[in-house]
Amino acid sequence: MTAASPLPIVRTPAELRAAVAAWRAKDRKVGFVPTMGALHEGHLSLVRQARKSADRVVASVFVNPKQFAPTEDLDRYPRQEARDAELLAGAGCGLLFAPGPETMYPQGFSTRIQVDGPSRGLETDFRPQFFEGVATVVAKLLILAGADVAVFGEKDYQQLLVVKRLARDLDIPTRIVGGATVREADGLAMSSRNAYLGPEERRIAGRLNHVLAEAADKARKGALVATAEGWARGALAAAGFGTVDYVAIRRADDLAPFAAGAVDAPARILAAAWLGKTRLIDNLAL
Ligand code: PAF
Repeated sequence: MTAASPLPIVRTPAELRAAVAAWRAKDRKVGFVPTMGALHEGHLSLVRQARKSADRVVASVFVNPKQFAPTEDLDRYPRQEARDAELLAGAGCGLLFAPGPETMYPQGFSTRIQVDGPSRGLETDFRPQFFEGVATVVAKLLILAGADVAVFGEKDYQQLLVVKRLARDLDIPTRIVGGATVREADGLAMSSRNAYLGPEERRIAGRLNHVLAEAADKARKGALVATAEGWARGALAAAGFGTVDYVAIRRADDLAPFAAGAVDAPARILAAAWLGKTRLIDNLAL
């Protein structure tokens, strides 16, 4: 454990298991919040949510190389462990698991976890490596933490469904729950990657959420799914966004498209769009 930190930090699976076992020996319910660090209020709200259904919360900070393509931002992804530890302690977290890549993926590591179903399409069409990397690390983390409940942000809605599917399929006995997206005053979903945005990009970024809300409203009032999606694409381009990877209105439970072309069940609108070199994602319930 790291003594100078405001909360205990463990770096190996054995240390994490021992710390969680000590809580369990005292009958404590355990919550878990996995993160890649560079924490903001969105992450801290997940910790507070976990704290409501658990006596002790462990968070992980691990920038998982397996979920980045070689062209992506692994090297420049912000890393600030001391600050993260301070923020986590303030939000009621009791332990930080911060392993290095060689601990998570030692020489000879050969396992890859692929989840079908909710990982089809959307993010996978543009980041084909992403969910395999996420599923592999999340399976490891869930098994290691052995928590009663784990909280994942709804901002990454497709990821949340993939993780729920993974836990169900592998009989991992941790309840997976979603935490509401936390937004800046102008509606921009909080994200560690927002730090990449220049001032003009940051101004435009705030439009994403509003465009999705308007498109959702159109679909809710009876517009065809394709019409509402097309309108949103146009509105994002007009607002100053670059490439729009997708805008999609899908069934909320499994992200399947609406066969009849109109919303006839609980739905979610999801989008990914670029501002300069930064890719933003967001989603809303209809
Ligand atoms: O959402 C994230 O921060 C990451 O994808 C996760 C779940 C921590 C896995 O690396």
